Amino acid sequence: MDRAGRSPCSLLGLDTLSRGARIFGMSKPARLGLLGLGTVGSGLVEIVRKNAASIEKRSGVRLEIVRALVKSPGKARPLPLEQVVLDAESIFNDPGIDIVVEVMGGIEPAKGYILRALEAGKSVVTANKAVLAAHGAEIFQKAKDTGKQLGFEASVCGGIPIIRALSSGMIANEVDELVGILNGTSNYILTRMYKDKLSFEEALRLAQVNGLAEADPTFDVEGIDAAHKLIVLTELTFQTKATLDDLEREGITQIEPVDIKVADEFGFVIKPVAVARRQGDALDLRVHPALVPFEHPLGPVSDEFNAVMVKGDATGEMIFHGKGAGSLPTASAVMSDIIEIARNPSSGVMWNPTKSRRVNHLEGRSRYYLRFPIHDRSGLIGKIATVLGNYGISITHALARLNNGTGNVMIVTHETSETEVCRALAEITAAGVLSGEPLSLRILE
Ligand code: NAP
Ligand code: HSE
Repeated sequence: MDRAGRSPCSLLGLDTLSRGARIFGMSKPARLGLLGLGTVGSGLVEIVRKNAASIEKRSGVRLEIVRALVKSPGKARPLPLEQVVLDAESIFNDPGIDIVVEVMGGIEPAKGYILRALEAGKSVVTANKAVLAAHGAEIFQKAKDTGKQLGFEASVCGGIPIIRALSSGMIANEVDELVGILNGTSNYILTRMYKDKLSFEEALRLAQVNGLAEADPTFDVEGIDAAHKLIVLTELTFQTKATLDDLEREGITQIEPVDIKVADEFGFVIKPVAVARRQGDALDLRVHPALVPFEHPLGPVSDEFNAVMVKGDATGEMIFHGKGAGSLPTASAVMSDIIEIARNPSSGVMWNPTKSRRVNHLEGRSRYYLRFPIHDRSGLIGKIATVLGNYGISITHALARLNNGTGNVMIVTHETSETEVCRALAEITAAGVLSGEPLSLRILE
């Protein structure tokens, strides 16, 4: 050492070099505070337990779960009890936590906690599409104001890295259209009804047991969850604000086993689809079940799998396919945000839905599958066909399934307009010839 306390090495610059080399070789910490330790939170614990060493080797990020917030004391937990807390402030106030992972769901207190965590100087990773669909702009503004990151890869399509694909991989493109299956639970239910002949209720129960469904499964089966995800994708891709009221939304609850069976006989499978399509200055947003031909790319997407078809002006059509729900696939997406934020704390996804566009459901044309519940009476099928004909709706397939004088008439139409279908169905219903509500489903070509 010289008298100024510098080593001979430092005089030669070697000290800095060796320290630099040590820093270069050192891992960056990602110390996590979890808000929620249910299906997704437990998946994250499992991934850290199994893969932390290999993730550190590949990414240079050393993972540590500091503590997790839960609601109910007394449940079995995948973390030691001293790491499980009931007080959210103990996470926000802990300077030893870098990233808060919100996997509790719902709007409040989740939204307040996300804002609080950002204000407390933490970056946030969330899997919560409901809160982003309702308050995304405000949450991203807060992240911008605080200079912190907000990761939300897990909020759409579970394990598929669709947010990164759209915000980074396809950034060179103007996207005109997104068509996909965005809800794993609905797809799982329809698949089990089709392949295993389960009832709707049995299939939903299995989806819940497998950790696919939302805390309130109405969100899944009524298309609300898919609508939330479509809003997230729309605001991100088209930079246009959208709300639940802007969308046309139908769930899968009105679909009966006979629809699945007859669709199959006609060469289709029923899928819960979501569509965002740019038409001039307007955006058409829809979530509904549709008949999909077997050979369509969405035809084989089964169980809890999701898929998104994206048409970019540079890439042409791209298809992303993978598990859209479940503990580990979703935790995998959460982890990808954690690693991205830890490695690159200043890279942020642009969320700026300020483009003014008319967003609503636009009148479209398609082929339709129609089902009319009837009690067998002579001339009934002729009457239905006549009314459809009066509205210019022509038929490609027709089938009656009756048992003891009661059942359904199923019809597939040529391409027609939604308005004409609605008018024809209203007239047939008003004629009092049906034994229940008719069903109409679009056919996705
Ligand atoms: P979950 O199994 O119901 O777990 C929720 C967790 O949050 C539980 O640990 C619960 O505590 C805790 N929690 C809920 N409200 C709380 C409150 N007010 N205060 C403190 N803790 C609270 O839900 P999940 O399936 O993991 O889903 C979590 C989020 O991920 C949701 O936003 C969901 O939409 C999203 N997501 C889920 C999946 C999936 O496949 N499950 C996929 C993608 C995205 P207790 O354990 O004490 O009840
Ligand atoms: N309940 C959701 C689904 C979880 O079934 O798709 C994944 O977001």
